[in-house]
Amino acid sequence: MQGRRLATTDEIIAIVSPDSDDVVTQLTAWTDDRGVDLSTVDVGDDIDDVYDENRATLGVTIGGDGTFLEGIKTFAPRNVPQLGVNTGTLSFLARVEPEDLEAALDEVIRGRAAVDSRQQVAVEGPGIDATGINDVMIEHVPPENPIDRKITRLDVYADDEYVGEFEGTGLAVSTPTGSTGVSLSANGPIHYPVNNHTLQLVPLHTHQLGVRPIVVSPSTELRIFTKGPASLLVDGGRAHRILETGEEILVTGAARLAHVVRTSYDDHFFTAISKKLGWDIRDVDDPPISAISSASVPDSAAARPGSPIDPDTAGSDTLERALTIATEAAEAAGEPLRELHGQVESIAVKSDKSDIVTEADHQANRIITTVIDNEFPEHGIVSEEQPRRKGEDGYTWVVDPLDGTGNFAHGNPNYSISIALLEDGTPAMGVVYVPETDELFSAIAGQGACKDGEPIETTDRDRLDESMLISGYDPDGTFLSHFYQESRGVRRLGSAALNLCYLASGSADATWEHDTNPWDVAGGLVIARAAGATITDERGEPFDFDLDADGRTALLGSNGSLHPALLDHLEDGLPTPVQ
Ligand code: IPD
Ligand code: CA
Ligand code: CA
Repeated sequence: MQGRRLATTDEIIAIVSPDSDDVVTQLTAWTDDRGVDLSTVDVGDDIDDVYDENRATLGVTIGGDGTFLEGIKTFAPRNVPQLGVNTGTLSFLARVEPEDLEAALDEVIRGRAAVDSRQQVAVEGPGIDATGINDVMIEHVPPENPIDRKITRLDVYADDEYVGEFEGTGLAVSTPTGSTGVSLSANGPIHYPVNNHTLQLVPLHTHQLGVRPIVVSPSTELRIFTKGPASLLVDGGRAHRILETGEEILVTGAARLAHVVRTSYDDHFFTAISKKLGWDIRDVDDPPISAISSASVPDSAAARPGSPIDPDTAGSDTLERALTIATEAAEAAGEPLRELHGQVESIAVKSDKSDIVTEADHQANRIITTVIDNEFPEHGIVSEEQPRRKGEDGYTWVVDPLDGTGNFAHGNPNYSISIALLEDGTPAMGVVYVPETDELFSAIAGQGACKDGEPIETTDRDRLDESMLISGYDPDGTFLSHFYQESRGVRRLGSAALNLCYLASGSADATWEHDTNPWDVAGGLVIARAAGATITDERGEPFDFDLDADGRTALLGSNGSLHPALLDHLEDGLPTPVQ
C-alpha cells in the first residue's frame, strides 16, 4: 500500500446524507471521547461557516458514493483529506463500514492512516468550468422519437494532434478513480488508482470496431468539438450542460488533487474489485501468502528502498523508530509544500526583510509536530514555528518545517524540511527531505548516512583550487569574495539543511554559515557527520548549539581534508558572528 501517512486531526467536518442518524450518533460519541471537535453539515450545504483553514481538519462523508463525490467537491479545493463511511449499498469510494468507524478513526488520529492523492479531471467550455474525481461524459442527446438516430459525432484533438472523429453514443474521459464506473462497461481498462495520475478517453458504443480507449497524461489537453448537440455531465451530473453543434470543450487533468484517506478497514483495491465485479481470477478473501506479506509492509518503507521498517515491529530502538516517524512526517509535510510552491500569496516578515514566514511553513509545522506528538508524546519539541515544548525523558526534536522559505516564496525549488532528534542534547538522528526532487537524506549518528536508502559519503578532495564550496548566509560577502578566487566555485543556494546534505553526498566539498539557528542545521549535521564530514565553528572548535541559549552560531562543514585550509582563511578575515 502506497500513499503518505495522514497527520491530523484537530477537528472533523462530516457531510451527512439523510438517514445517517445512527452513524452521526456513533461519530459524536467518538469525537466527544477523544476531545476532537465535530461539525456536521447536510449533503449539498456549504462548510464555510464551520471550516477553519488554520486547523488540521479531516473531512468525513456519511452516505454512499454520491455523498462521497459531494465531499470531494467540498474538501478537495481546500486540500482537506477525506474519509468515506458507507451507508449506501454498492460503494467503490466510501469504503469504511459503520461497524468499523471508531477503529478506523482511531487509526487516523494515531497518524497510521494513509492518504492517496487522486487525479481529478477538469472541463472548461462555454457555460461550464468544473472539476470531477470520476469522469466527464459527452453523450448524445436522446431523440424525441426513440427510433431516430442515437449517435453523436465528436472531433477530438490531443494537444495539437488530431485524434479523429468518434461516432457512437459519446465519449467518457475518466480519471483512474472513475475508471471502474461507466468506462468499464464500455471496455475501458481498470486503473489501479494509487499514485496513478493519468486520464483515459473511452469511446461509448462506438460503431467503429478498431477504436480503442486511449490513456493520456493529465497535462494533455483534450479538445473536443461537437458535430451535433450533446449532453455534458461531470461526475454523473454534478455539473451538467447541453452543448450545441460546433462547440469546443477542453478536458485535462485538474491542478488540484483529491486527498482520500485509507485505513486498514478499507478493502484493498483488488479485493473490492473482485467482490464488486465478480472477478474470478483470484480468491476474494484468501490471497496467497506472498501477497499478504507484501501488503503488510508499511507505506513509507515500501515506497523507499532502505527505509527502516514499521515502528510497531521495529523493536524498541528509539532512534530507529524516530527515523521512521521523521521520514513519514517529512514526506507528509512535503505534499502540501509541493502544492503551495509557486503560489505564495502572503508573506509575513519576522525580524527583518529576509526573515520571512508563509502559511506553508505553518502547515508543514502542524503536520510534522502532530506526527511526532502522536508517536512520542513524552518527547520535547523545538520548532522554528512554535513555542518550545519541554520533554520529560531526554529526547528533544528539532524541526525546521521549511528551510529556505525565501526560495520557496519566490518559486525556487531549493528548499527542504529538516527534522532531528537530540538524545540528551546530542544530535542523534536526522532527516532532510527535499519535496521538489523527492530526495530523502537520513542518518542515525554513528551508523552512516543515506540518500534514498543508498549510502553516501563526503568527497576526499584535498585541493582548494579543485573544490566546490557552498556559502550560506554571508552578510558582507567575505567568504564569497575570498574563496571565489581560490576554489572552483562558491555557490549561494538558500537552505542550510540542504547545503549540509550536499556536503554529505559529495556534490560540495564544504559549506559555510555565518550564523545559524539550531533548527537550520540539526538534521543536516547528523547526516553530514555520519557521512564523514568535519563540522566546526569559525575557530575550528567542534560545532555545538545550545537550545537554552538564545544565540546563533557560525558553522564550517567540510570533507575534513579541506578544513585546515578553509580555517586559515577564515581566521584571516571573517567578521565575528552575532551572538
Ligand atoms: C534560512 C536558510 C538559509 C540560511 C538562513 C536561515 P529559513 O532558514 O537556512 O540558507 O542562510 O540563516 O535562516 O528561514 O528559510 O528557515
Ligand atoms: Ca531554516
Ligand atoms: Ca524555516
